[in-house]
This record gives sequence, structure tokens and C-alpha cells, in this order.
Amino acid sequence: MAARATGSPRAPTRRALLAGLAGAALAPATAAAHHGPPLRELAAARGLVYGSSVRIDALEDPAYAALQARESAVLVPSYELKWHPVARRPGVYDFAAPDRLMRFAGRHGAAVRGHTLLWHRSMPAWLDARVSAADMERHIETHAATTVGRYAGRIGSWDVVNEAVSPVDGRPDGLRASLFLAKLGERYIDVAFRAARAADPAAELVYNDFGVEHEGWNPLHPKREKVLELLKRMLDRGVPVDALGVQGHLATRSPFDGDRWLRWLERVRALGLRILVTELDVNDAASPAEITLRDAEVAELYRRFLAATLACRAVTTVVTWGISDRYSWVVDGVEPSHRRADSAKPRPLPFDRDLAPKLAHVSLAAALTDARPR
Ligand code: G3I
Repeated sequence: MAARATGSPRAPTRRALLAGLAGAALAPATAAAHHGPPLRELAAARGLVYGSSVRIDALEDPAYAALQARESAVLVPSYELKWHPVARRPGVYDFAAPDRLMRFAGRHGAAVRGHTLLWHRSMPAWLDARVSAADMERHIETHAATTVGRYAGRIGSWDVVNEAVSPVDGRPDGLRASLFLAKLGERYIDVAFRAARAADPAAELVYNDFGVEHEGWNPLHPKREKVLELLKRMLDRGVPVDALGVQGHLATRSPFDGDRWLRWLERVRALGLRILVTELDVNDAASPAEITLRDAEVAELYRRFLAATLACRAVTTVVTWGISDRYSWVVDGVEPSHRRADSAKPRPLPFDRDLAPKLAHVSLAAALTDARPR
């Protein structure tokens, strides 16, 4: 989840933004007819993977399903494969929804990313503070073995642990003061990764987090350093982590320094880890109401972020958190920071509510096309 940025750098001028994008900007009607090759093909041509998260029930929407089938080479369930929805009772699993996604993906030659085994915000109700340390360990092992094991050989990449770093919790190690940590200490992370590796030795195991992309969101809490320190400790302990997932929940008019971002990504790469962008979208709450200018600011941030990110050769994958404004957590307004003062609907994703491509799609397509081949 994204926090609001502090401070607001001088926004690019209207003229600069529109000039920068004018060449590629197409009127929605025109763009819908000619928005070019599928994003999955543009990515594959550079040895990259593009995909998006999906709300499985939204696949009942034929036009949306067709867009996902055309554009996404990987699909990520935004909710239905988390611990809470699949195991509402101890040891009793219901994978009906993820299985539907697997069938849809199979019909359209798409992969599925597993999201996410352990997240403090999707723990089953029965896993509460009364659990003993030994039982917590056993539950984590059972969950990983059951869930990763079910899709072994079919789901090739998992967000094993999500958002374990939270410097604002005040710990010297910067870790989130979750129930997992209270019961097992940092070792809970090791337990999850080792159990996932045992369940599917071929799967890519990812540590996933947010809030590292913009500069100085919490100047007193260097999240980038704490994430890097955690990854180093995990590797030193022999934890089978293959990659870092950077969620990429961005916000217009929040400080972003592409050079500093790339330098940090290269430090992650130097650890021998791959990098995935796992949940990319752009919150436009700070941008003006006028849609042309708002879309241009969103597109410019997609452009700047992806140019810097894809310059790092360890980056393999770009997943947007949703593909259309028709289904987006940002548009749902669950997070107060996503709600615009003018109550206008946010426009965070490459395709609008009518499934027409936006300027953000132009930026995304260009970034994939311009990326150095992997
Ligand atoms: O589908 C059920 C519906 O059947 C039920 O009646 C209703 C009652 O609450 O819930 C519906 O499920 C909701 C689900 O989204 C629908 O997709 C859940 O309540 C709701 O909590 C869930 O929110 C998801 C959230 O994670 C919490 O799991 C969002 O869609 C999803 O976009 C968001 O994604 C997270 C990533 O996993 C981690 N990074 C941050 C990101 C944004 O918070």
C-alpha cells in the first residue's frame, strides 16, 4: 500500500508534459483502434514479461477478460490466493477461485504469479495471538506446502513474504511488528521460504514490498536500506530467496529520482537477486482535475519510473496492479490517500474504464519497446 508523499516538487508544466507525449498521444477513439501490439508481445521481444493483477470475478466481464487475454503474459490474483480467502478454517482449503484463474490463464497462454503466502493483512481469522510459536511455525509450513504444492510446476513465481519491513514500527532492524514476528522473530521469513522451496523447487521465490520507489516518503525511516539489510541477512542465512518484488505503487507529484532509484536497484542486483515490478499503478490524487493534464502527469511518471527501472538488467517482469481503471484498488478509494479532493475518479492504469488505452499505455508500451534486450 502506498503512503502519501511529503513535499511536492515543481510539477512539470502543462506544455512540457503534453509536448513530451504529443507525438504518441492518440485520441482514445483512435487509440482503441490502433493501440498497437499487445504489451505482452512488446515485453517478450525484449526478453521481459508484462502482466497484470486480476480480480477473478471480473473475468465474467467479457470485454475485460478479452483485454487481459490480449495484453497480459502473466496474471496475478489480487486477492483470491491469499491465506485468508483460501483457508477460512484451519487445514480446510478452498482453491476454487484460483483454479478458475489457472484455467483462464491456460486458455490464453498466460502464466500465473502466486500472491502472496504471508502478509500481515491477509491472515486467516483463526490464526491469532493465542497461537503458540510452535503452532505458528507449523501453520506456516502447512500453508506453504499446501498452497505452493498444489500449483507446483504450474505457478512459476511466488510472493512468499509480503511487506515485512516497516521502519515506522521503530525496530532497529526495521521489521514490521507483525504476529508472525512476535511468535517466531525474523525466522518466520526463513520458515516460509524454505517450505515454499521444498514444495516447488523450480518456483522463483520473491520477497515483495512497497514504499521504496519515491524519495523521502519517510525521511527518518530509510526503508530502502532496511529492505537491503533484510535481503542480505536472508542470503547470509541461506534463505532460498531468488528475487525482490518492488510493488511500484507510485503517486504523481511525489519526489522520484531515477538515478538514485537505479543505483539502489543495482545494489539489489549485486546481491545476485532478480527484480520484479509487481504492483505498478499511479495515484493521481495530487494532479489537477483536467483529465488531459492528469493523464499526462500519470504517463510521465510511468515513463520516468520504467526508464530508470528497466535500465537495471536484473529486472525481468513488469506487472501493473490491474490493467484498466474499471477494476483498481486505487479507484475503489480504500486508501484515503487515493481519494481526490474533487471526488473525481482516479485514473491509475494503462487502460481507462472503457478499456481504451490512455497516455499511460503509450508510456508503458514505449518503455517496454525501448528496454535493452535481456
Ligand atoms: O470478493 C469478496 C466478496 O465476495 C465479499 O463479499 C467481499 C466482502 O468483504 O470481499 C470481497 O473481497 C475483497 C477483495 O479485495 C475483492 O477483490 C476483499 O474484501 C478486499 O479486502 C480485497 O482487497 C484487496 C487487498 O489487497 C486486501 O487483500 C485488494 O483487492 C487488492 O488490490 C489489495 O492488493 C494489495 C496487495 O495484495 C499487496 N500490496 C498492496 C495492495 C493494495 O493494498
